[in-house]
Amino acid sequence: MKAGKIDEHSFIQKLGPDTRIVVLTGAGISAESGIPTFRDAQDGLWSQFRPEELASPEGFRANPKLVFDWYAWRRKKVLESKPNKGHEILALWGQQFPHMTLITQNVDGLHQAAGSQDLIEMHGSIHRLICFKERHPSPWVAAKDGVPLCMRCQSPLRPDVVWFGEMLDRRILEHIGKALANCEVFLAIGTSGLVYPAAGFLDEARASGALTVVINRERVGEDRCDLLLQGSASDILQRLQDSIQARHVFKVSSRAR
Ligand code: OAD
Repeated sequence: MKAGKIDEHSFIQKLGPDTRIVVLTGAGISAESGIPTFRDAQDGLWSQFRPEELASPEGFRANPKLVFDWYAWRRKKVLESKPNKGHEILALWGQQFPHMTLITQNVDGLHQAAGSQDLIEMHGSIHRLICFKERHPSPWVAAKDGVPLCMRCQSPLRPDVVWFGEMLDRRILEHIGKALANCEVFLAIGTSGLVYPAAGFLDEARASGALTVVINRERVGEDRCDLLLQGSASDILQRLQDSIQARHVFKVSSRAR
């Protein structure tokens, strides 16, 4: 499939049951579930801290309780929230497009809650803890005076997420690299494109000849993609799904209606 500026109608026409699609989601897809995006969250309660202080090994070493409390606060918001239409449509696309790879930078688990399977959570999950020293897994434990400790080695527990300055799992990156090299359509949804390596996926897909589409509330990546759909992720995904269904070429599960 050849890349070049296209309109929404032509994009829909290119989609078929065998299309190889990679979807990358960011905090914007969960914003409509009431979860503040990483950068929006910096305006409120946590505005006095830089992201690196709240999401880095150095930050955790300097102030483990502050970092633990920040993630506990975010996790509470997640547990109080539900997946939105955008998550639900992507779960449906997982059935409609058997060759779709869904990658998320979000750690909130809302894609799974909506029914997505085979999801790549490239930044980990806020619902799991590991210990700082040995990465021993642990069930979630609430912090009291200090940070909870690992039952096995007494090292402080931290969320099982990828922090600034940490490496992503090599096998996950290889898997993503293969999907990008093979995809015909790449969609980036609700991500600012500021944090690598995910920020480079659009260019990688484009270099492989994929059609690239960005869905964002802001004019993000306009000069790099073939199609920018500006607005709410869930509204736009609903519109795309309506057009897809109108073509009657896909099996539609009753869950989608
Ligand atoms: P950001 O908070 O950087 O960006 C969210 C994007 O979503 C912005 O471009 C918004 O314009 C867009 N947006 C917000 N609401 C939207 C809506 N309703 N519909 C469509 N778009 C909307 O979040 P990410 O790009 O996910 O990493 O951030 C990437 C990574 O940076 C995060 O995974 C986290 C962070 O630092 C780590 O923690 C390692």
